[in-house]
Formats: sequence, structure tokens, C-alpha cells
Amino acid sequence: MKTIRTQVGIVGAGPAGLILSHLLHLEGIESVVLEMHTRQYVEERVRAGVLEQGVVDLLTQTGVGERLHREAMVHKGIYFRWGDHEHRFDFEELCGKNITVYAQHEVIKDLLAVRFAAKAQIVFEAKDVSLHDIDTKQPRIRYQHNDEECEVVCDFLAGCDGFHGASRKAMPASVLKEYEKVYPFGWLGILAQAPPSSDELIYANHEQGFSLLSMRSPEVQRLYIQVDPEDDISQWPDARIWEQMHLRLGSPNGWRLTEGAIIQKNIAPMRSFVAEPMQFGRMFLAGDAAHIVPATGAKGLNLAAADVYVLMHGITRFYKSGDESLLQRYSNICLRRGWKVQNFSWWMTHMLHRFRGESPYDVKRQWAELDFVTSSRGAATALAENYTGLPLTIEEA
Ligand code: APR
Ligand code: PHB
Repeated sequence: MKTIRTQVGIVGAGPAGLILSHLLHLEGIESVVLEMHTRQYVEERVRAGVLEQGVVDLLTQTGVGERLHREAMVHKGIYFRWGDHEHRFDFEELCGKNITVYAQHEVIKDLLAVRFAAKAQIVFEAKDVSLHDIDTKQPRIRYQHNDEECEVVCDFLAGCDGFHGASRKAMPASVLKEYEKVYPFGWLGILAQAPPSSDELIYANHEQGFSLLSMRSPEVQRLYIQVDPEDDISQWPDARIWEQMHLRLGSPNGWRLTEGAIIQKNIAPMRSFVAEPMQFGRMFLAGDAAHIVPATGAKGLNLAAADVYVLMHGITRFYKSGDESLLQRYSNICLRRGWKVQNFSWWMTHMLHRFRGESPYDVKRQWAELDFVTSSRGAATALAENYTGLPLTIEEA
């Protein structure tokens, strides 16, 4: 068996695993990342595209912001549309922060570039990963690579392998508690080759369902519509997609959605999920391995970054002074912030989607909520503070 000895073993080369590996490296701490897919696969995997200001600051301060600042789009607000109403949340005015629109796979490319420039140990196509001795001071990760049995022996193990990964499953069932809410709809997402029809994101609540206009670049739009969770993409030819996009986004003041060639389309389910605790022994869960949020709040990558920000500080403090107190509080710190993000993502989803079996009362109440959040400065500020990102913190309070 081939054995690699390192300080931190990381499963998963998504945002959580790569940001953690990078932050640890800057503190002089070694890690090995094990990723089941190829480098090309993870670099081309289309996911979300909104970065909180705190995450942009973190990437910038740690030397991963150069291309982001050259190519990304900084947005100072978002639009809500419902009925014949349109409202713009002015983030600058409400909370003095902004968001950056930059595809997650571009962040991945930038992280891989800096990691390989630093001679990082990232093993792609690592198969049959299993975790062992996670409640000892020498956890191990076993895997197959090029038909060879391999293992990583480490001091700490970071489970950054997403919702379907192996890490959460390594938690004893007697310890793990899971909280889940599955929504009665999914999102059909497309990438369309057309200049963005709006300068900022548009979230629309329409009687036919939710829709969202986002973008990836000055040439590519990213659009979503709410669909039934049982829908198959084959039921959604391009013409039907555009027909619903036009209908749900509307045409206020003569505004028109620009169509373009659809270059990617898929349907994704929508759920909220939290696993507690986010640690066991020397294993720490981060990102989607520990929690899932509906994309309505654009929080997935940002939550992953917030987790590994805490984990990096905890591990660094251990190696510098032997103090494990921050590591012992890791789960509580991440969950306190994480549950607030869960609430925000649920709130955005509940406010903007249509629900099977909703009564006329439900619709009137939802519209009153939209009226309140767009007319009360306090409510709008709460939305802006959450959307642009709660502060990254290592404090429990
Ligand atoms: N062995 C090795 N690698 C694995 C395994 C496994 N058993 N299971 C999953 N992985 C890899 C996946 O291929 C993926 O590259 O772990 C990585 C997990 O990355 P993400 O799923 O992106 O999760 P995370 O890093 O927490 O980032 C969360 O990514 O999926 C989006 O919407 C999500 O925006 C959110 C963000
Ligand atoms: C995206 O651009 O993919 C995106 C933006 C905002 C969201 C979800 C997805 O809430």
C-alpha cells in the first residue's frame, strides 16, 4: 500500500476543499486533497455564481482575486418582481456592501492554479475513498488510485466531499442528527449565449412560478425557472423554456428578455439540510458535506468558505500553540452562522416561489410580505445584510 503522511487530509476538491487547502498552505500547514473526479470535470462543473463581499475579500487577501477582479461583475443591488411591481434593493445604500457575479467553476480554476503553483498535493480520480480512525489522533483515508491501494495518514481530516460524499457517512449514527426540508419544486437552469438582459439579478414571483435572471459574463445569461421536482429536462424544449421565462419575468416599462442559444440546461432538486454536529474526533465536515441550502439565497459556495475559514483558524492555532479550544468550538461556530443562512435561504425561497395547494389567503399573505420587505427600510436592510453576506467569524456569539 502507498502511504502519504500529511498534516491535514482533505476529501473533495470543490470550493470547501480547495479554499481550505489554500488557506492552510498560507499558514505553512501541509494538506493532501483527494478528489474522485478529474481536474477537467471539476473545472467545468457548472454551479452557482454569486460571491458575498466577505468571500471576495478573503480570496483577494489570499492572492486568488486577480482574474476575479479583472473578469467578474460587481453588483450593488438586485431586483424583485411580483405582479406589476418591481423593486430594486440598493445594497450600497442599505448596508454598504455588494456582491460579485463570478461562476463557481471559475473560482475553482483560480484556486487550482494557485495550488498547483504552490506544488499542492491534489490526487484526482481517487476512487473508493473511506475514512478510518477518525476519533484517534491519527485518522486515515484509504482510496484507490491507478489501481493501487493508497492511504493518507494525517493529524486532521476535513470532509469537504459534498452532500453525496463519504465523510458525513463516517459519523457514528448515534452522534449524527440530520435536519431536512425537501421543497415541492426544482429549478430548471439554463446557460444562454446572449448579453444579460438586465444589469443586475432579477428574482420574480409569478403565478406560473418563480424565475431568476442572472448572468455569467457580458455574453452569457444564467436563467432559472421553478418546475415540478418530477419534471424531466426532456419535457422542456427550448421554446417552452423561453415562453415561461418571458411570461414569468414580464416586461415592465417595455423591458424585454433577450433570448440566445441555450448551451446548457438541467433540472436540480431543492432542499434545505443540516447535519449536526459538524465534527467528530479529528474529522471536520465543511460545505455541502454538512449542509445544503436552496439556491434562492445564492449561499452554497459562500457557506463553504465560511466553514473552512473557521477550520483553518482552528487548525492553525493548534499547530502554533497546541490550543485545541477553537477546534472544539468549530461545529458550534459554523452552525450558529449556518442556521442564520439556512433561515435566510428558506425565507427567500418561501417568499418567491409558488406552492402546490396554496390558498388565496397564502398568496395574499406572500404578497404582503413582498410589499413589506420592499417598503420597510428595516426589512430591506435585513435582506441586504444577508444577501451580501453575514461576516466571516470565528466567534461563537
Ligand atoms: N471521494 C472523493 N471526492 C468526492 C467524493 C468521494 N467519495 N464525493 C464527492 N467528492 C468530491 C466531488 O467530486 C466534489 O468535487 O467532493 C467535491 C465536493 O464539492 P462540492 O459538492 O462543490 O461541495 P463544497 O466544496 O462544499 O461546495 C459547495 O458547491 O456544489 C456546490 O451548490 C454547492 O455552491 C455549493 C458549493
Ligand atoms: C446564479 O447566477 O447561478 C445564481 C444567482 C443567484 C441565485 C442562484 C443562482 O440565487
